[in-house]
Amino acid sequence: MTEMNINHFLSDESEFNNEDSSSKKAPLKPIPKIINGRYKIKRVLGVGGMGIVYQVDDLLLKSIGLEQYEFAIKVLNSESAEFNDADLLLVNEYLQANQLQHPNIVPIQHLALCEESQRGFLVMPMIKGELLSLLLDSPFEDIPDEARLKYAFILINCLLHCHKRGVIHGDLKPSNILISNNNELHLFDFSISRNIDPDKNNFAINFNQVHAWSGDYAAPEVLQGNAPTIKSDLYSLSILLYKLLLRTHPYQQKENTVETRTKEQQKIHKLLLQAMGPVPAERHLNFKVLISVFKEIKNKQNTEKKKPLLQKVTSVFSRH
Ligand SMILES: Nc1ncnc2c1ncn2[C@@H]1O[C@H](COP(=O)(O)OP(=O)(O)O)[C@@H](O)[C@H]1O
Ligand SMILES: [Mg+2]
Repeated sequence: MTEMNINHFLSDESEFNNEDSSSKKAPLKPIPKIINGRYKIKRVLGVGGMGIVYQVDDLLLKSIGLEQYEFAIKVLNSESAEFNDADLLLVNEYLQANQLQHPNIVPIQHLALCEESQRGFLVMPMIKGELLSLLLDSPFEDIPDEARLKYAFILINCLLHCHKRGVIHGDLKPSNILISNNNELHLFDFSISRNIDPDKNNFAINFNQVHAWSGDYAAPEVLQGNAPTIKSDLYSLSILLYKLLLRTHPYQQKENTVETRTKEQQKIHKLLLQAMGPVPAERHLNFKVLISVFKEIKNKQNTEKKKPLLQKVTSVFSRH
């Protein structure tokens, strides 16, 4: 691969912005079938508001006999790539994700420039599985209660890790979460991530131009064009947890659902609502109490699991 530096991702106007129509951009070149003679595109894995993600074979790793040669490559879609310095979105994603190290967060292995198209790209491990958004809304598959609890716990863990490392995810939603075939959760998509410390945000992003957010999960202030914050992450996380654990979106619940809920579900409802208020400063989520409710549910699940066995034993004894 040729040597390069950050200047390869910058045009003469070094701010992510497409308002200046005077600076005519060269037409966008397509991504070739083999990128830089190394990554052979096999198929599209998914499309988001800003990027396209391809499954690729790393021909170099394949040629030296490595078994792990399948990867995912993200490029900007044609709309996002039209912004001046659009590739800075990828640089930003790379920088933010690189501050993290968590088994449930998809790492970004490389940031590189496609020589043929002069477009940036990211290389990540490919996750074989299904988007949580599809699983949550699928009429054919149901995520078991135990798995829901496990995913909720992991999601909390992931977000706390991000915030501890100073990273605001900015776009938490089920379509940015993959559940792999072995039922592990993988959080990804740090394209509009920000650092809590403004000095560490190397590039300006005009959030009015970013159309990535989904009205179902983004905080109201973010939908109005403000930069995401810890409080907006908390808002999105709470909606996600609500949907996972109470099996309905908090905006869409029916009136009588509250009465049919268990004691634990009512506690979760109350806790999560406190993090979904319209005023960011007033949002709170008591993780300690929430986790203690998870434990209560887990205990109940374990007792339920043991029941049939106990009943079997009792029935054996009653025969004598
Ligand atoms: N590492 C990966 N492995 C498999 N599929 C992925 C991976 N990363 C992303 N995808 C797929 O590509 C889609 C778009 O990726 P994403 O990073 O969310 O782009 P955007 O920033 O445009 O939202 C995802 O919804 C998912 O289906
Ligand atoms: Mg996405």
